[in-house]
Amino acid sequence: MTNNEEFEKILENIDENGPEPQEEPERQYYFIKKARALVKKMSEELGRPLISSVTTFGCQMNARDSEKLIGILEKIGYVMTEDEHADFVIYNTCTVRENANQRVYGRLGALNSMKKKNPHMLIGLCGCMMQEPEVVEKLKKSYRFVDLIFGTHNIFKFAELIYTRLISERMVIDIWKDTTQIVEELPVERKYPFKSGVNIMFGCNNFCSYCIVPYVRGRERSREPKDIIREIEKLVADGVVEVMLLGQNVNSYGKNLEQPMTFAALLREAEKVEGLKRIRFMTSHPKDLSDELIEVMKESKKICPHFHLPLQSGSSAILKKMNRHYTKERYLELVRKLRAALPDISLTTDIIVGFPGETEEDFLETMEVVKEVQYDSAFTFIYSKRTGTPAAVMENQIPDDVVKDRFDRLLAEVQEISRERCARFEGQTMDVLVEDVNDHDSSLVTGRLTNNLLVHFKGTEDLIGKIVDVHLDECRGFYYMGTMISK
Ligand code: SAH
Ligand code: SF4
Ligand code: F3S
Repeated sequence: MTNNEEFEKILENIDENGPEPQEEPERQYYFIKKARALVKKMSEELGRPLISSVTTFGCQMNARDSEKLIGILEKIGYVMTEDEHADFVIYNTCTVRENANQRVYGRLGALNSMKKKNPHMLIGLCGCMMQEPEVVEKLKKSYRFVDLIFGTHNIFKFAELIYTRLISERMVIDIWKDTTQIVEELPVERKYPFKSGVNIMFGCNNFCSYCIVPYVRGRERSREPKDIIREIEKLVADGVVEVMLLGQNVNSYGKNLEQPMTFAALLREAEKVEGLKRIRFMTSHPKDLSDELIEVMKESKKICPHFHLPLQSGSSAILKKMNRHYTKERYLELVRKLRAALPDISLTTDIIVGFPGETEEDFLETMEVVKEVQYDSAFTFIYSKRTGTPAAVMENQIPDDVVKDRFDRLLAEVQEISRERCARFEGQTMDVLVEDVNDHDSSLVTGRLTNNLLVHFKGTEDLIGKIVDVHLDECRGFYYMGTMISK
């Protein structure tokens, strides 16, 4: 849903004083209207608009979910702010690593003090952390000031949950274990007018042995291709030129549809959307990367020459314990195929250091793969034990000091390679999607190359959202300084 007027027309036909609709999304439209009336009344009493902030932790999937939350909050009548001094503060949480959780608990303490000064302030928590029963228990016991808790499977019910909280004085908790439901056509408020994430699937079936995502995001569900393409068409009509197709493992898209479809075939359909300029996707699991996908990328004029292909470890023995279903050799073979088809492609990756049982030799194999592949950039993570995952109870958890030493060596290597790789386009002219006025120097704008690197160059605000040709004058480590050639 992108068009405001269209949405208001739909709302006009909803009778908020009639019986609750049972069907979605009509049921949520009904609650948006009911909550809107309450928010209007409160704001008249206060003599000012009610304000709300949504803070996002975690991945692109969560970022997209937050746009859906904001879409609903705005329709209900809240005015959004970045500041946490708000009437309704929402944390959309992540639990992929333990430190993500710690950050949330830390910040909740600060919110509690704010709430003491502003007693009608509401605090809502949602996202992946809320799918862990221990977390909810802890919140119920020690964080009684939280008003609303819900999970990843029912964010489409946000309007209904807000309404429920507004008419009661109690903590509202609604967590679903899993779902098969995908509710379309709810409001979304995009962070950027010119680019957007598009969910193509939800959940994950892979159960990598270290990873909590399948437990908190549920089983894999693909959206219907026609719904995805219709969403992209609407986004383009609304000014979007770049889409990022989102899923935990986009390479297995479509397997569970009534009429199965491959990810490569979906990309072919997306390519046909007129006016769409750039297509990205995230994330690809190496085990499901098909020749068909490489072929589609090679033929495409719109798919960006960038591939994020998480390695996790360069040791086949560790990969097996991680339940990744590929070997070091198979991974390197995929890299060769990608480079043969698309010589200029940028490769990026995720690597975990210190998985249980990782020996120095295993680690050195990871270092070798890093040197061989020459990643344009790599996200490196220290293994974090997630309760409930098979790896958490494996023997030979690696001592912190050993992990830290390996992590530092890996990071140094990765950064040196990134710096060299970044320089390879120096002197070329490439197309850049302008994203922002530069934070530090307002005479500059910042844009993104198709390979995902940033470039700063002289320009004005009106260029935001446009694709322009920029000469890459100088590489400065991980970004470029450039000069605009044409509009
Ligand atoms: N679905 C994506 C990854 C989602 S999580 C994929 O399979 O590629 C993003 C990254 O977090 C993972 O690639 C992994 O490198 C890292 N990660 C996941 N669980 C972790 C854990 N328990 N400890 C450390 N890093 C982890
Ligand atoms: Fe986690 Fe593996 Fe699923 Fe990625 S593919 S979300 S790492 S279980
Ligand atoms: Fe975190 Fe959930 Fe994404 S655990 S990485 S926000 S899917």
